[in-house]
Amino acid sequence: MRIFHDSAPRLLHLLLLIELFVLSSSHPIHRSSLCSVYKSMSHHVDRLMDSAKRLHDLTDDELINFEGAESKLDSLPHIPHTAVDLRTIKVNESLARLLNYSQSFQLHVDWLKTARENVSLPFQPAESASTHLLQLSKLIKTSLQQINEEAPPPPSASLPVVSSAFEALQFSVEISGRLQGFGHWSKRVLQLLRSQSHCPRH
Ligand SMILES: *[C@@H]1O[C@H](CO)[C@@H](O)[C@H](O)[C@H]1NC(C)=O
Ligand SMILES: *[C@@H]1O[C@H](CO)[C@@H](O)[C@H](O)[C@H]1NC(C)=O
Ligand SMILES: *[C@@H]1O[C@H](CO)[C@@H](O)[C@H](O)[C@H]1NC(C)=O
Repeated sequence: MRIFHDSAPRLLHLLLLIELFVLSSSHPIHRSSLCSVYKSMSHHVDRLMDSAKRLHDLTDDELINFEGAESKLDSLPHIPHTAVDLRTIKVNESLARLLNYSQSFQLHVDWLKTARENVSLPFQPAESASTHLLQLSKLIKTSLQQINEEAPPPPSASLPVVSSAFEALQFSVEISGRLQGFGHWSKRVLQLLRSQSHCPRH
């Protein structure tokens, strides 16, 4: 009895310590669902990059004719080439930027699909890229909601009428390149976001 009396306060102390430890080491409630959203986003970026490569159906030899061609679509997002800095990355800002790019590319890809359709070129890869961009935007909005951030207003673009197959090809090559650049950038950003949220690797 006496032993019990003596050890009770210590036991209580110990229990409090354990509780404190559990509280301080627990992650925000939404961590694991945010991780699964990031994972789905990554999946759609992979599929998007597959479609981006197939946006034009030119062989490497044919492609040479288009290389160095002047950029004609000023409204396409410019993806930064510099490495993403892990120390300065802000989750809300990266997600807002990712959404803006994704929505802007979708406008361009939908336009390209119509342009190619108009001049009787295959448009399935553009259609598939559009589907993955749409899914990506939805998932980005979900993750913004989970961190209680507002989605930025959607971008707009005024795009020209395309009157020849040559022009449609030129635009396809340009969008294909930019979209692949966006895919690489997004993969890096997603890796950083996942490591910041301590998401499991797989
Ligand atoms: C979205 O991207 C476009 C370029 O595609 C840029 O002009 C615009 O300022 C961006 N908007 C936001 C809210 O970042
Ligand atoms: C992101 O969050 C920080 C605070 O964590 C805030 O200062 C900043 O304005 C936010 N940026 C945007 C684009 O909402
Ligand atoms: C495709 O054709 C329609 C009908 O002629 C036209 O209104 C539209 O602007 C064209 N789209 C592009 C991207 O050229």
